[in-house]
Formats: sequence, C-alpha cells, structure tokens
Amino acid sequence: MLTDKRILLIIAGGIAAYKALDLIRRLRERGAFVRAVMTRNATEFVTPLAVGALASERAYTDLFSLDDESDIGHIRLARDADLVVVAPATANLVAKMAHGIADDLASTVLLATDLPILIAPAMNVRMWLHPATQANMALLRDRGVAVVDPETGAMAENETGPGRLAEPPNIVASVEALLSGANRPLAGRRALVTSGPTHEPIDPVRYIANRSSGKQGHAIAAALARLGAETVLVSGPTQEPPPNGVRLIPVETAREMLAACEAALPADIAVCAAAVADWRAGEEAGQKLKKTGGAPPSLALTENPDILATLSAPGSARPALVVGFAAETESVIDHAVAKRARKGCDWIVANDVSAAAGTFGGDSNSVHLITEAGAESWPALSKKDVGERLAARIADHFQATT
Ligand code: CTP
Repeated sequence: MLTDKRILLIIAGGIAAYKALDLIRRLRERGAFVRAVMTRNATEFVTPLAVGALASERAYTDLFSLDDESDIGHIRLARDADLVVVAPATANLVAKMAHGIADDLASTVLLATDLPILIAPAMNVRMWLHPATQANMALLRDRGVAVVDPETGAMAENETGPGRLAEPPNIVASVEALLSGANRPLAGRRALVTSGPTHEPIDPVRYIANRSSGKQGHAIAAALARLGAETVLVSGPTQEPPPNGVRLIPVETAREMLAACEAALPADIAVCAAAVADWRAGEEAGQKLKKTGGAPPSLALTENPDILATLSAPGSARPALVVGFAAETESVIDHAVAKRARKGCDWIVANDVSAAAGTFGGDSNSVHLITEAGAESWPALSKKDVGERLAARIADHFQATT
C-alpha cells in the first residue's frame, strides 16, 4: 500500500500519456497523494482537466504561470513528495534529464529535485535503441535513477519492439518497492558483484569466450541493491540491461575484471558470479591471423588470475563475506566443497551447468549453497529468485554477526 505517500508524477508528451490516467487512478487507489506536472506536449495527448480530475489536485503545466507559482512554486513541487515518477518518459525528456536541461516546468522540477526518481520510458523502438538514448539511460541509471524498462510489443506506428510504456500495474509495483524503505537491511554496506563471461582476445577480431549470459550475476546485484547495499557490478560483455540503482563497470578480459574489482574495494560483500575465462591466449596477435595454406596455428594458453581467490586471500582489504560460484557438470556438491576450500571463500553457490540442466543462458537455476555448516539444496528457482534468496541470506548473515 502507498498510504500517505506523496508522489509527483511527471507526464511527458507521447501517445502513452493516456496510460498516465490509469496510473494515477491505481496510485490513488493504493492511498497515495498524487500531484501531476504535464509537459506542453503531454497536454496534446491528454487534457490537464482529465489529469487534474483523477489526481489529488489540479495538474501543473507552466513554469511561468503566476497561478502555478503562487499556488505552489516549482521549487516546492520539486521537494514536496516522497518520489518523483516520470511516466511516460519520452526520448526528449530523458535527454534533458541526462544533460541537465531545464526549459519547462517538468524539466526544471527534475533538475531542482533531490528526491528519488523513477522513470518509465516510452518511445518508438528506433528512438529507444538509438545509441544517444541508450547512453542517456546509462547516465541516468549511473546517477541512481530507477527505471521501469519499456515492454516489447506492437506500437502505435505499426512497428514492434521494445519501447512500449510498461503496464501501469508494473509501474505501481516499482513505486511500492522503492517506497518500502523499511526493508533495506544492507543499507550502509558495500557490495561488489562480478557477472557475465570474459572475452580473451586472440587477435583483433577473435576471442575466447563462454556461454555465460550474466543473468544470474545481474540478478544478484539487483537484489543486493534492493536491500540497500551500495552495489558495484563488474560485468563482462552481456545483453542484460544494467539493474536499477547499481554502478556498472563494463570490462572485457579477466585481467580488466580483476583490476576493476580491486579498484572497487573496500567492500563488505563480494559475490563472484562471473564465468571468468580460465585461460587467455599467451600472446595476442597485433594483426588478424591469416591462413597460410600450411599447418593451422596452434594457440598457446596462459592462465588468467583467479579473481575469487584473490579477493578471498587474507588481508585488510578482504571483504567480510566472499561468495563464489561453482559451475560443475558432475559431482556438483563434492566439487563445490573442494572448490570452497581451494579458493578460500566463505560460501559457494554450486550449480549444475551440464547441458541437460539448461543453466547457461536459461532463466532458472538449481543451486546448492555451501557454507561452513555444510551443503543446503535449494529448489529450482528463477535466476531472479536465486538472487533474492542469496541477498536475503547475506543480509541475515550480517544481522547475525554484527
Ligand atoms: N573465478 C574467478 N576467476 C577466475 C576463475 C574463476 O573469479 N579466473 C570464480 C568464478 O567467478 C566462480 C568461481 O571462481 O565464483 C569458480 O569458477 P569455476 O569456473 O566453477 O571454477 P574454476 O576456477 O574454473 O575451477 P575448475 O577449473 O576446477 O572448475
């Protein structure tokens, strides 16, 4: 429920603006006080009269309106709420937010506010996928702006793809999650998570890689951040969108991943979920290797640094809790118990990555948690749920030990 929560809803101008009416209704049904600011373009799609009728008070539209300023003023609009929600957020408003442009009431309020912000983008698929929009979104996520990603589906212009405004119930769920600040047991803790594969170059066009999707590592980082941890996610190349409220450091190779992890210390928690390549080409060719008609070239491999073992090594910078993963294809628990001892980490999450288990690239995971107390088998869960359960266990651990 959102009883007594105050929400400032900013409605930008896109066809999805009509869904803002449903969003206002649902937020109010849950007990929220909703005040709305509309951009000029938004008023072309829905009327301020309709928005004002559903919201808790009339809609605000104009930065230079004497009425609006004497009623409340743009600075108070920017302060007097628990959360600012931008829905729909157009490509234009996202760009203005990313670059600090304040040229109307909505963008001025967004620049003047220091409240948490949640944005629900909606735009044509090409505008969403444009590198400019993606770079702007990355900037906003980096600054801690929460995002309800657009959904994929048919759009107004007879095109299909990502860009449709998330359905209002999903936006309401994100609002509730952000405002249920009570459940942040990891607030004040720092977490470091590795995710995805690494790419180890052979020459300028070829590399050694593996099938890791990054889904599990990203889900863990998202869950730790939701519980309040200040979370750094060091990730190899993946298709996964960066989670809300997490600082993403993209890397390619194992050595870059190690350097980024060491730079992110100190941390209270380290979770190494990346499928780091064990080996790299001993020598990276400066030019593309060419067929010569003779014997194919042989590849001499060199071992990569072990990030988990490095972070687990005793020392003042060792995180209080280091969690590793064990990707095994047979004798899963036995191998994981041995791996925990060998790497020196505190816990190991063991999973079966044999082809039959469908873990790599799939959405679910059957894992065993190995701690000093022994092995505990979890039921098959989605990767998101494994992330949540692991983050909850980490929070319990810190509550029990401090
Ligand atoms: N890991 C790491 N750096 C490496 C290799 C692995 O940080 N260079 C971490 C992984 O992120 C994971 C754990 O070590 O948390 C175990 O990875 P896994 O691939 O299962 O083990 P390996 O070290 O490759 O051991 P083995 O070859 O015995 O399977």
